[in-house]
Amino acid sequence: MAGSASKSFTLILLAMSFYFNSSSAARVTPQSSIDFIRTSCSTTIYPKLCYSSLSIHSSTIQTSPELLANAALNVTLSSAKSTSAKMSTLSQSHGLKPREVSAMEDCVEELTDAVYELKKSIDEMSHAKKSNFRMMISDVQTWVSAALTDESTCSDGFEGNAMNGNLKTAVRGKIVHTAQLTSNALALINNYAFRHG
Ligand SMILES: *[C@@H]1O[C@H](CO)[C@@H](O)[C@H](O)[C@H]1NC(C)=O
Repeated sequence: MAGSASKSFTLILLAMSFYFNSSSAARVTPQSSIDFIRTSCSTTIYPKLCYSSLSIHSSTIQTSPELLANAALNVTLSSAKSTSAKMSTLSQSHGLKPREVSAMEDCVEELTDAVYELKKSIDEMSHAKKSNFRMMISDVQTWVSAALTDESTCSDGFEGNAMNGNLKTAVRGKIVHTAQLTSNALALINNYAFRHG
C-alpha cells in the first residue's frame, strides 16, 4: 500500500517535471526574440528598417521563422494599403499635368495589384497544409515578387524631369518605403523556406 502510494507520487513528480520542462522550453524570453529578429533581419537588404518594423511585434513572433515572415507580410500589406490610399488622394490634387495624372492613375492600379498579391500571400500562408509546403512557398514567392515589380513600375513612372518636384518626392518616398518592406518580407520568406528544409 505504502509502496504503491510512493510509486504514484513518483509518477506525479515525473509528470510534473515533464510539464515544467516542456513549458519552459516553449517559453521564449523577450531578449531571445529580439536577438532572433535582429539576426534574421541582418540577412535582408534593409536590416534597420526590418528591425524597426518587426521588433515591435516580438511578443507575437517569438523565435519562429514562420511568424516572422507572416509579421513582415502584415507590415508590408499595411504599408502598401496606406501608400495606395495616399496615391489615390494625390491623383485628385488640383493643378496636376496630364502626364502626372496618368502616372498617378497607373500607380494606383499597380498598388491595388500589389495589395491583392500581398493579401493572397498572407491568406495562402495561413491556410497551407503541411504536405503542400513547397507549393505554398513557391506561390508566395511569386506573388510577393510580383508585388515588388508593381511597386517598382509605379515608382519608375515618377522618374524624369517632366514631373513636379514636390509630387515626385512625396510619391517616391512612400513607394520606396513600401518596396523596401516588400523586399525584406521576400528575404524573410526565403529564409523561412530554407530553414523548413
Ligand atoms: C498578421 O495579421 C493577422 C490579421 O490581422 C493576425 O491575426 C496575425 O496574428 C498577424 N501575424 C503576426 C505574426 O503578427
